[in-house]
Amino acid sequence: MNATAATPEKLIIFDTTLRDGEQSPGASMTKDEKLRIARQLERLKVDVIEAGFAASSNGDFECVQAIANVIKDSTVCSLARANDRDIGQAAAALKGAERARIHTFIATSPLHMEKKLRMTPDQVFEQAKQSVRFARNLCADIEFSPEDGYRSDVDFLCRVLEAVINEGATTLNIPDTVGYAIPELYGNFIKTLRERIPNSDKAIWSVHCHNDLGMAVANSLAGVKIGGARQVECTINGLGERAGNCSLEEIVMAVKTRKDYFNLSMGIDTVQILSASKMVSQTTGFVVQPNKAVVGANAFAHASGIHQDGVLKARDTYEIMRAEDVGWSANKIVLGKLSGRNAFKQRLQDLGVVLGSEAEINTAFMAFKELADKKAEIFDEDILALVSDEAVTAEKEHFGFISLSQRSETGEKPQASIVITVGGKEIRGESSGNGPVDASLKAIEAHVKSGAEMVLYSVNAISGSTESQGEVTVRLQNSGRTVNGVGADPDIVVASAKAYLSALNKLHSKAEKIAAQG
Ligand code: KIV
Ligand code: ZN
Repeated sequence: MNATAATPEKLIIFDTTLRDGEQSPGASMTKDEKLRIARQLERLKVDVIEAGFAASSNGDFECVQAIANVIKDSTVCSLARANDRDIGQAAAALKGAERARIHTFIATSPLHMEKKLRMTPDQVFEQAKQSVRFARNLCADIEFSPEDGYRSDVDFLCRVLEAVINEGATTLNIPDTVGYAIPELYGNFIKTLRERIPNSDKAIWSVHCHNDLGMAVANSLAGVKIGGARQVECTINGLGERAGNCSLEEIVMAVKTRKDYFNLSMGIDTVQILSASKMVSQTTGFVVQPNKAVVGANAFAHASGIHQDGVLKARDTYEIMRAEDVGWSANKIVLGKLSGRNAFKQRLQDLGVVLGSEAEINTAFMAFKELADKKAEIFDEDILALVSDEAVTAEKEHFGFISLSQRSETGEKPQASIVITVGGKEIRGESSGNGPVDASLKAIEAHVKSGAEMVLYSVNAISGSTESQGEVTVRLQNSGRTVNGVGADPDIVVASAKAYLSALNKLHSKAEKIAAQG
């Protein structure tokens, strides 16, 4: 066998949870939340973190900047439309990065050029070229994406891509923006582009697939295997608009588990996958379905007697991956009532949670002790929920939870009385409702009068049993904006009130940002 042919080539893992993932309605995250996730992505050893779209808002600019300033091991990337202003903003936000990438894009499909951009193909061609030239003068690492690339005319696409490589693009990403592709066809599409473009070997080819037909992972793998792409763009839990993006955990575990077939190497520390999945789910309130591959609660559970018997005799009878390799079962029960401040601080560090000051650690530790009084075993999920609680984070929120009492009895209308802070001022509200949760949220609304419409309410047990904390997700819509709020507490009525206030805070801070941009 030829020794060079057997050496695995590297597959670059480009994570876009914080950009494309965040575009999912309701998945918007605060700066602190994004920083926490970026740190976890760095621990996971993803090669590139797409931190946001710097020119889209002041808030996004600040997030990209903050991530660029703290991440050392992964390349930090910002998206930018193909124009000088966007590219300039991306470069400015990435200034502090150890390794920076500008990702610029313009649509190339006939439909997008005509109906959305109202530009001729020649205008798009010129703009793509000029933008890459401009970007390359600001940054050495330039990715170019022809948006809706898969539905573009192949001759036109070849013309554009050849030109942008000549202008210095180092990665060419071919998006299946609307999730229309079929694995074999998408793989062959990439292969054709690489074969037809004379300078195609001067750039790394990348795949970016959406999951509208449930084939984002299959299409990406075909782009790698048939097309020869060496970068995959993906998100944790497949988070993303509509049916989402290609899921990172599935791509990584497919390439790792079937190394015999793909023969590719990756830098990913797979043991960090589960923590990343839980962190993203808990932050966004997008619950992971139990039967989700790799990170679902049942992904490694063998319920049938025949399977259990087989696994006990020899694991590989029914298991193709080891649960431990993706982070299951490591550190299940972490802390309890008797755990001290140092153990708590260490666990925070292991989970990648960085609290700004000693005062914040103290507040979080007190909240932990309170929780440990109510609940014997504290899991990682509990700690993550606890530190995402506004009460222990640095940002002082507009709406804060203080206390709640409610009364419900069969045959009687439930009543709730709640104390909250609004802009630092203590307010008490009372209301009745269809149930204790309804009464509590109405008691909040009696004062706040947000006028927001609730489009989703869901409760999830953080760690399985009735002793667990309840994690509530509330999705609110107001004036065309959608936000998710997440709250956790052993009492699900309190968790609901916290989730509702967290969603109101997001609506409030979005309104403030819009007002600031005027
Ligand atoms: O789906 C898409 O086309 C994108 C591009 C901006 C890369 O996300
Ligand atoms: Zn996309």
